[in-house]
Amino acid sequence: MGKVLILYHSATGNTQKMAALVSEGAVSIPGIEVRVRDVDSATADDVHWCDGLAVGSPTNMGILSWKMKRFWDEVMAEHWMKVDGKIACAFSSSGGWGGGSELACQSILTVLMNFGFLTFGVTDYAAKLTTLHYGAVAAREPRTPDIQAACRKLGQRLGEWVSFYVDHCADQHPLRKSESRMGAN
Ligand SMILES: Cc1cc2nc3c(=O)[nH]c(=O)nc-3n(C[C@H](O)[C@H](O)[C@H](O)COP(=O)(O)O)c2cc1C
Repeated sequence: MGKVLILYHSATGNTQKMAALVSEGAVSIPGIEVRVRDVDSATADDVHWCDGLAVGSPTNMGILSWKMKRFWDEVMAEHWMKVDGKIACAFSSSGGWGGGSELACQSILTVLMNFGFLTFGVTDYAAKLTTLHYGAVAAREPRTPDIQAACRKLGQRLGEWVSFYVDHCADQHPLRKSESRMGAN
């Protein structure tokens, strides 16, 4: 049974709402177990437990928040070279469109790559004019159906990859699931 960790930091609740939607997407995949953890309560054991993880942070000065960076700098540092190979993706809430949320996702992915994780983006459109190529992004809270769909799709895709690569469920490969690729582009 594949295990997915949704790890997030949220100072004012917006990224937390994204995390809940990412979780919804992940649990929609059969056999996937999901754990949601705030960065203040997360432990290294949570990271060791999972096969795949989605990491979310508010966009702060165009990058991940200091609290999320500290988790990887301090909590996870001694676990470097012991957690390679997990499947990983990113999401971020910013103050507004153009505020750097995709840069923040990229900065999260850079940290995850440093730990040897297998990071991915999503080719599908979540809705008309809404993509998540570098991770799911929202301006403030995920209030509209298209942004909510993008968050769910990120979790769904993470669950699919874990199911395919960890649980060896061949039918969960996204290219074999036409219904998961019907985004309105
Ligand atoms: C220190 C700090 C830096 C921020 N930097 C940016 C930024 O570079 N770009 C942006 O669009 N919003 C920025 N914001 C706004 C937050 O990204 C935004 O309010 C976000 O929705 C907060 O998410 P949260 O509710 O999960 O904490 C910043 C906020 C803080 C507190």
